[in-house]
Amino acid sequence: MGFNLCITLVFFSMLITYHSQTGTEAALTYFDHFCPNTTTSTANSTYRSNLNHLFAYLSSNATSNLEFYNASAGNSIDMAYGLFLCRGDLLAGACRDCVAGAIEDVVVRCPDEKVVVAWYDECMLHYSNRYIFSTMVPDPTSYLSSTQSVSEVNRFDELVRATMNDLATGVSNVVSGAKKFGTKEAKFTASQTLYTLVQCTPDLSGYDCSRCLEIAMTYLPGCCSGKKWVIVLFPSCILRYDVYPFYLTVNTSAPMPNPELAPPLPRHGKGQISLVAIVAIIAAISVCSMLFVVGCFLTRRARKKDNAIQEGAVLLQLLMILQFDFATIEAATNNFSNDNKLGEGGFGAVYKGILFNRQKITVKRLSKSSGQGAGEFKNEVVVVAKLQHRNLVRLLGFCLEREEKILVYEFVQNKSLDYFLYDIERQRQLDWSTRYKIMEGIARGILYLHQDSRLRIIHRDLKVSNVLLDEDMNPKVSDFGMAKIFGVDQTRGNTRRIAGTFGYISPEYAMHGQFSVKSDIYSFGVLILEIISGKKISSFNQSDGTTRHLLSYAWKLWRDGTPLDLMDPTLGDSYSISEVIRCLHIGLLCVQNDPVDRPTTASIVLMLNSYSVPLLSPQQPAYFFSSGTEQNMQLREPGLDQSGSKSLHWSVDEASISR
Ligand SMILES: *[C@@H]1O[C@H](CO)[C@@H](O)[C@H](O)[C@H]1NC(C)=O
Ligand SMILES: *[C@@H]1O[C@H](CO)[C@@H](O)[C@H](O)[C@H]1NC(C)=O
Ligand SMILES: *[C@@H]1O[C@H](CO)[C@@H](O)[C@H](O)[C@H]1NC(C)=O
Ligand SMILES: *[C@@H]1O[C@H](CO)[C@@H](O)[C@H](O)[C@H]1NC(C)=O
Ligand SMILES: *[C@@H]1O[C@H](CO)[C@@H](O)[C@H](O)[C@H]1NC(C)=O
Repeated sequence: MGFNLCITLVFFSMLITYHSQTGTEAALTYFDHFCPNTTTSTANSTYRSNLNHLFAYLSSNATSNLEFYNASAGNSIDMAYGLFLCRGDLLAGACRDCVAGAIEDVVVRCPDEKVVVAWYDECMLHYSNRYIFSTMVPDPTSYLSSTQSVSEVNRFDELVRATMNDLATGVSNVVSGAKKFGTKEAKFTASQTLYTLVQCTPDLSGYDCSRCLEIAMTYLPGCCSGKKWVIVLFPSCILRYDVYPFYLTVNTSAPMPNPELAPPLPRHGKGQISLVAIVAIIAAISVCSMLFVVGCFLTRRARKKDNAIQEGAVLLQLLMILQFDFATIEAATNNFSNDNKLGEGGFGAVYKGILFNRQKITVKRLSKSSGQGAGEFKNEVVVVAKLQHRNLVRLLGFCLEREEKILVYEFVQNKSLDYFLYDIERQRQLDWSTRYKIMEGIARGILYLHQDSRLRIIHRDLKVSNVLLDEDMNPKVSDFGMAKIFGVDQTRGNTRRIAGTFGYISPEYAMHGQFSVKSDIYSFGVLILEIISGKKISSFNQSDGTTRHLLSYAWKLWRDGTPLDLMDPTLGDSYSISEVIRCLHIGLLCVQNDPVDRPTTASIVLMLNSYSVPLLSPQQPAYFFSSGTEQNMQLREPGLDQSGSKSLHWSVDEASISR
């Protein structure tokens, strides 16, 4: 009853606002725009007249029920491509007004420029002389944020991150062509709610949409930690949050302009929302919030108790879904036959299997040395199974019977990266754009582990053989969370047991047992150099008979200004020189001696995706020189004398080092 009244009031106030805006003067809230003056056209050029046609197409199509429209005008040479995207919650009239206003606005701001992106509160306009449809365009970027911060910054940032993540996952899972828009609310304090919104242009694939949003999210910690509202703007996606509602929801709270949003932004346009509208909205909101508070108070007590019971049930259910019978695994792997054996990893033998329902799986039979109790083991498996990201190999479940501990993973179609990278024939399947995609994907998988999964998992054994490739050559990182499942101390700090692979271990981990996310970054840097060069870090000195290490070799080429000499010769001419140089640059930043100098995971994702992010100069990396046999390797750092070095012992499977 109260709720209905509320809806009516809000609807009424919306109507008034709407009318006040569609009257003679529409208000356009300008956010930002971008039009480089590197490409311009003259007023009488063909491009300009095509552009005028384009504007007509866009504004005429904005009247129908479309939140997105793309159009092109002209012939091949002077073609103008353009699109608009309206905020997903808008009514058609508001969309039309925004698009019309935007067109009027950009011709003033960017009279001669060929490439223009302009963002407003309610829509975005983007046009170019290049094809821009169905492509993820992460440049240029802009963000706006409140000058005010919330009180509990860390908790707030965490809430923003988690809410955005959920939202981005949901939005990018919709089919191509469908509306890629979502909003989500989360309670921050009893009186404060977080309102979040994400939107991609619907012509993007789900994969590109999630990429775009992930990149946008990486901006948040750097620019806007704790800010009350933030807007991150890309040509392909938009991400916003606020502690006030700023979008319309059909059946939840009321829409209203954020009282804080308007003043600090540069405003353009010919009018403001009328006073009547503001009064109506404020009246509606206050009545609503009163009703809401009363309603909440009455229902709250009843709910609290149920939650605890439900959570227990959910966990139990999850365990049951994740648990496999030993007999099932035996049948799937043909009794762990040698034919099904894929290899021997650091933690035990790995088999391929097929379940009764024809689903392919990968089975990892853990060696018996794990000291973990059954209860802890189950708990950790549940935790790791919750880590789901398209660049991580998914853990499907476990088996715990007859002293056996077995992990069941999704089966990834192609083999690991080293299978392709180090084989003369198969190497050719990895052209430059594939390699770039692989590096980018690995970085995103690691970012999820480090930051987005809430657990802050450090991989600790990142290497080419732990990167699997699916049928489209998308990378999936495997073997993460093993330290957790195996019961090794996972917190940041010192550890006595060094797990990792020679060549990939950062100096501070090898020398002092100190690991952190920055040790993973080091391993990632080594991976980049391997992917560019097609050479193994561990066999480098043997293959060409010199004692030069891949790192020192890469560094020398960088210093001498001949970075392209590092490249895998099978790449031919299929690469972009600036991309190769940028990747090498990033790789060298990652393998710097001091963990503090290495970039964060988020900034790596950003650097790989956006050329506008400037890169610092790398310091000379730490070197490992080998001497003696493979079984006994001496570890040395520059500047450390012989007595400061330590001896490491290779474990049997050549994959892990322990001491
Ligand atoms: C635009 O061009 C002018 C010269 O015509 C130059 O001074 C200005 O810096 C340029 N602006 C940008 C953003 O490149
Ligand atoms: C466009 O106008 C300029 C002068 O405004 C003139 O010099 C030029 O020749 C014109 N170009 C075309 C294609 O008409
Ligand atoms: C929409 O744009 C197309 C060109 O992309 C144009 O042919 C069509 O007439 C426009 N639709 C309306 C309703 O004006
Ligand atoms: C809109 O974009 C799609 C690709 O997403 C393209 O196939 C189509 O031709 C474009 N429409 C127009 C009118 O250019
Ligand atoms: C709001 O509407 C959607 C469908 O439009 C529905 O799925 C959802 O449950 C509704 N939410 C509430 C709180 O009523």
